[in-house]
Amino acid sequence: MAPRDLLVTEGLSVEFGGVRALAGVDIAVHEGEILAVIGPNGAGKTTFFNAITGTCAPAGGRVFFDGRNITGKKSHEIARLGLARSFQNLKPFAEMTVTENILIGRESHLASNLLDAVLRTPRFRADEAANHRKARELVAFVGLDKRRNTLARDLTYGEQKMLEIARALALEPRILLLDEPVAGMNATETGFVMELVRKVQAQGITVVLIEHDMRMVMGISERIYVLDHGELIACGDPEAIRSNSRVIEAYLGGGKLAHHH
Ligand SMILES: Nc1ncnc2c1ncn2[C@@H]1O[C@H](COP(=O)(O)OP(=O)(O)O)[C@@H](O)[C@H]1O
Ligand SMILES: [Mg+2]
Repeated sequence: MAPRDLLVTEGLSVEFGGVRALAGVDIAVHEGEILAVIGPNGAGKTTFFNAITGTCAPAGGRVFFDGRNITGKKSHEIARLGLARSFQNLKPFAEMTVTENILIGRESHLASNLLDAVLRTPRFRADEAANHRKARELVAFVGLDKRRNTLARDLTYGEQKMLEIARALALEPRILLLDEPVAGMNATETGFVMELVRKVQAQGITVVLIEHDMRMVMGISERIYVLDHGELIACGDPEAIRSNSRVIEAYLGGGKLAHHH
């Protein structure tokens, strides 16, 4: 059976002051897969995520999520539809604990409204209990059990990255977009994140990963798209990408692809 496309971009373009950061990108993410988007610095990877999630407005093209045109929708609307992301630059609330950060992440998910909250209706109390249960599960899922009452600003860098992933998962997304989740992590932490991404996939969540760490990219991706100067230059499985001459050329200088394998 042909794979189902969960997320599709058609001719997606973004411009900054007349300069094209994305130039007509067509990507199809299959439901259930782990897909990587790679490319040299400045290739347009983060911009691609921004254009999909409503963080920046596309200059052209369309984005479809589960067959529905979501082009130009606001980021919170897109998140509510089931598309969650982590940011390349960390944004947890420094003065809140791990658990509080995750609970805040779930706020947009609440069925109850302000009136329910003020009156402490049964619906509000049920939501609250469910949120706390879900937050406990997520804290354990990302390995932060022992740190659940620690303020985000006191976490190590690696722990903050895990919290960022937990916050994205708190939205119970159908697709998770991760922007360089292991940047700055050591090999042990990287291995932990790779396992985590596999567990996320096992829960039925589709994963799109921007990453420079080739051990991770080649180790867990089923398919890889390569961006260079805002354009798609290759698509294929890890073997095909590793030996693609256009890709190797784009990475010359960085030389990252060759070194890790
Ligand atoms: N907000 C912005 N304003 C102006 N230029 C930007 C902005 N965001 C990104 N760019 C430019 O767009 C290009 C792609 O950037 P980015 O998507 O961050 O690349 P990558 O994530 O692949 O390293 C770069 O040339 C970058 O300088
Ligand atoms: Mg980036």
